[in-house]
Amino acid sequence: MVESARQPQEPQNPEELYRYLLDRVTNMETRNLELREQIRQIESDKRYIETQKIRYEREVRKLKSEIEQLRSPPLVIGTVTDVLDNGRVVVRSSAGPRFMVRSSMCIDPEKLKPGARCTLNQQSLAVIDVLPESYDAQVYGMEVVESPDETYADIGGLDPQINELREAVELPLKKPELFDRIGIEPPKGVLLHGPPGTGKTLLARAVAHETNAHFLRVVGSELVQKYIGEGARLVRELFDLARKKAPTIIFIDEIDAVGASRTEATTSGDREVQRTLMQLLAGMDGFERRGDVKIIGATNRIDILDRALLRPGRFDRIIEIPLPDIQGRIAILDVHTRRMRLDHGVDLSEIAAMTEGKNGADIKAICMEAGMFAIRKDRDAVSKEDFLDAIEKIGLDFDRHIYKSGYGAMFA
Ligand SMILES: Nc1ncnc2c1ncn2[C@@H]1O[C@H](COP(=O)(O)OP(=O)(O)O)[C@@H](O)[C@H]1O
Ligand SMILES: [Mg+2]
Repeated sequence: MVESARQPQEPQNPEELYRYLLDRVTNMETRNLELREQIRQIESDKRYIETQKIRYEREVRKLKSEIEQLRSPPLVIGTVTDVLDNGRVVVRSSAGPRFMVRSSMCIDPEKLKPGARCTLNQQSLAVIDVLPESYDAQVYGMEVVESPDETYADIGGLDPQINELREAVELPLKKPELFDRIGIEPPKGVLLHGPPGTGKTLLARAVAHETNAHFLRVVGSELVQKYIGEGARLVRELFDLARKKAPTIIFIDEIDAVGASRTEATTSGDREVQRTLMQLLAGMDGFERRGDVKIIGATNRIDILDRALLRPGRFDRIIEIPLPDIQGRIAILDVHTRRMRLDHGVDLSEIAAMTEGKNGADIKAICMEAGMFAIRKDRDAVSKEDFLDAIEKIGLDFDRHIYKSGYGAMFA
């Protein structure tokens, strides 16, 4: 038909006819290519849509099963108390009574042990699943995940103490064979004590930074709970978690909050604190070998600590962190002025000589105040006068004569 439509323009001489035909052939070839390209395009679109469809179908199935699960009746939580043969198990439901039930075949018999938490079917109370061990969220919160920034180099003037601490805490974790060779048990715990602001917490933070062990940090007062038995449970879970994650270092700051001497308890609150302490002592003894769990305690009030805590086997090493002497103060000034721009006239040993009786925290504050004076006077560097002003200011702000013995202070 196309032929006939084109008839009138049909070229007459063969030369032209040839060119005309050639032309048409090329046209048709390009057209053919175009169409093929289109087919390819459409086919790939089709494939894409098909995969899309499969995806949606899968999604629908997932949502349906999710709805199904949400509609299913709740499972009862229970505890396995005994495992008999033929898949029979004695469980105690959370309500109290004990039942003998069957357990699902899918449960790993290894996990089905007395004491395990499990879920039970509401009607038959059959064991459906064994739940993982759980700890109080508070206990998980004690783990220091992000290591602190402080290093041993940020601690001024406590080199012998740092060495002793590392020997007691790091060495047994890193080179247990040294202790095996000599045949002694490595120290289990270290107690840091001394006046407030001398760097006890700082030391523990540096240990956390420098070791690869897990680090659990707890403040003594956190272990004092409102309800009877709660504090003891927290301590037990803390030790459980530590043992599970070993090697672990447990740092108990301000341990005097739970470790104060057991006197005649008068209120139920006192008795609760005592129960917590007893659990702590039991945890430190460890019925089984405590393994790679080390404890660092810190306190300002070693004088009120219970003797039981201080006996060897619990805190084997008692390290005193004293107020810094002149060399110590120079070293601390060195640490805190490391990043400061100082005038040529500043002589750190001179400043150290003027700060007799000040602790590390005071010296840090003096450095900061000196910097503030320099900023106030719009100077580029901190001068000796700024330090003198700062020493005076810190001295005035807090008259330490009232608290002459740092030991008298309960908190720091
Ligand atoms: N020996 C020290 N070297 C460097 N800084 C110190 C030292 N002692 C105390 N500081 C400073 O004082 C602050 C408070 O010290 P901290 O360790 O919390 O005292 P405490 O012994 O009461 O736990 C630290 O963050 C640190 O900046
Ligand atoms: Mg402290």
